[in-house]
Amino acid sequence: MKSIRPYNTFKIDHQVSEIYVIESIDQLRELCKEHPNPIIIGGGSNVLFVQDVERPVFIIDLKGIEVVHEGETWNEVRIAAGEDWHEVVMWSIDQGLGGIENLSLIPGKCGAAPMQNIGAYGTELADVLINVGCMDKQIGALFHMGKEACKLGYRDSIFKQEAKDQYVITSITIRLTKEKHHNVNVSYGDIKSVLKQKGITQPSIKDVSDAIIAIRSTKLPDPLEIPNAGSFFKNPIISIENYNQLKLDHPELPSYPVTDTHCKVPAGWLIDRCGWKGVMIGDVGVHSKQALVLVNHGSKNGQDIINLSRQIQKKVADIYNIDLVPEVNVIGS
Ligand code: EPU
Repeated sequence: MKSIRPYNTFKIDHQVSEIYVIESIDQLRELCKEHPNPIIIGGGSNVLFVQDVERPVFIIDLKGIEVVHEGETWNEVRIAAGEDWHEVVMWSIDQGLGGIENLSLIPGKCGAAPMQNIGAYGTELADVLINVGCMDKQIGALFHMGKEACKLGYRDSIFKQEAKDQYVITSITIRLTKEKHHNVNVSYGDIKSVLKQKGITQPSIKDVSDAIIAIRSTKLPDPLEIPNAGSFFKNPIISIENYNQLKLDHPELPSYPVTDTHCKVPAGWLIDRCGWKGVMIGDVGVHSKQALVLVNHGSKNGQDIINLSRQIQKKVADIYNIDLVPEVNVIGS
């Protein structure tokens, strides 16, 4: 058995049967033949192991960034699954390519990006994605799944639903705008205030990226300093009817529009209002600057995090009658 600790940002120390770092498509194909049921990990920044697991882990470390089509106003860029997402964002800005600057500083590898349709500050992967390179684990065949087929939703995709465990994501292809054709999105309140403070009225893609890096750095803990996996829960989507009812007792409850019938409420706000922000239970706790992030100050056991998350879920359900659903992939439950 091998410890998974070096490969997950929560720094949980459960055992798995074997760990393979995969650097080529051929190696991946061979290993899929030998091991039909591996656990696939990229940067390990969105997983929580809760016990030892008798399965091998494949760490996808495929590398490469390639412009596969050069258009007048945009380029199509194919990125191997093992490339670090934030480094790719920095590369795109250096190249003068726009569209993913709002997704600066999101931890993890590119292969995980379509899995939960990463999103932040008004942008999500779905806004730029063209297709996802996949290997069918059973037959070793490679193909590109078009964006529509990926069924991307809020922190959701076919890879978390009906195609769960079927494919290994090997690449993503995205469309990025060229100089003079960028469409910067500064709708998010926090970005507006950072830019205003700096006196920037016509922000470049680099200005937006810098603002987001500044915002994220103040709110979100660096996993290298305080082990965590980003937002632990999804922001719940509830009916507007339900929301209006809740507003009667909780007039300050914020919401964001989703459809004509449903809205999203911030889980961080709910957890904060339930008094959990900054609370520690043993070695694990709720981050003091963003209640949606659970942090690990030294526990080796994923059960400690799960137990904390259950207590939070219970309190939020008792007070607001809303079920919080984990955003992090729980492995071994
Ligand atoms: N809030 C509180 N207390 C808290 C945290 C938040 O009152 O402790 C309130 C804020 O004041 C704000 C609202 O809740 O009114 C939303 O907070 P924030 O803007 O920080 O964003 P979020 O909804 O908590 C989501 C994503 C983040 C992403 C940010 C910015 C999810 C699950 N999380 O968080 O994504 O960075 O928006 O767009 O959708 C991640 O997925 O790991 C992640 C960090």
